[in-house]
Amino acid sequence: MPAPRRGLREALTLAKALAVGGERREAAVAALVRPENLFQPYTTTSPNRYPEEFGIVRLELTAAEPRVLSFGCSSGDELLTLRDYIPTARITGIDANPLAVRTARKRVAGAGPITVVKASDASRETPASYDAVLALAVFRHGALSAAPPRCEEYLRFADFERTVTGLAAAVKPGGVFVIRHANFRFTDCAAAAGYELVLGGFESAGAGGLPSPVYGRDNELLAPEQRDDGVYRRLTAAG
Ligand SMILES: C[S@@+](CC[C@H](N)C(=O)[O-])C[C@H]1O[C@@H](n2cnc3c(N)ncnc32)[C@H](O)[C@@H]1O
Repeated sequence: MPAPRRGLREALTLAKALAVGGERREAAVAALVRPENLFQPYTTTSPNRYPEEFGIVRLELTAAEPRVLSFGCSSGDELLTLRDYIPTARITGIDANPLAVRTARKRVAGAGPITVVKASDASRETPASYDAVLALAVFRHGALSAAPPRCEEYLRFADFERTVTGLAAAVKPGGVFVIRHANFRFTDCAAAAGYELVLGGFESAGAGGLPSPVYGRDNELLAPEQRDDGVYRRLTAAG
């Protein structure tokens, strides 16, 4: 039997992924729906994936009922983990994948004040309204794991900066912004001037345990040690 043509092969792969369910179905839906401003199309997640970062966020938050935003919350593990670390928090999850949002909403129902929003940026969030904003494994793309010399076939710095600017503006002065496993650097964005580093130096491994590639403002590959993943604090007017 002759091999199916490319279009047919892609349709078969998609149909199989839709049938399998879980993460593969969510990625297939992203490929079909093509949400606006999508970065990482894969919804991979797990409970307590970043214990160090969650621990620091808990230490940094002093409000009685802190507001926490998980940007790219996927199917809800991160929201439930944040609820366990900070039981008094009022948590918002944002994700662009409609299927992941549907699953997250079901999973957090009855788990306390957690709201899940389908969106691709923070444009509907009130400026300076969150004590902590986390963007973990969102500003990356699995197809960049092989570290091609340029990234714009999959991701563009301009989209990253626009989206990060909105997230950084949603953090209250004195609040924290946590960025991990990004293919770009927060400190290359103008918004980073209003922030100071609390903790950095995190490793970021991609496929096969190789370091995740990082790209500059011009979408050109940088050396992996130039990455700046970390926990940042928004400066107060005095600071
Ligand atoms: C690899 S998952 C990370 C999930 C979770 N943060 C974690 O680290 O376990 C990436 C998620 O980011 C979401 N995402 C990608 N671009 C987005 C955007 N512009 N707005 C909201 N969510 C986005 C994807 O739909 C996916 O669910």
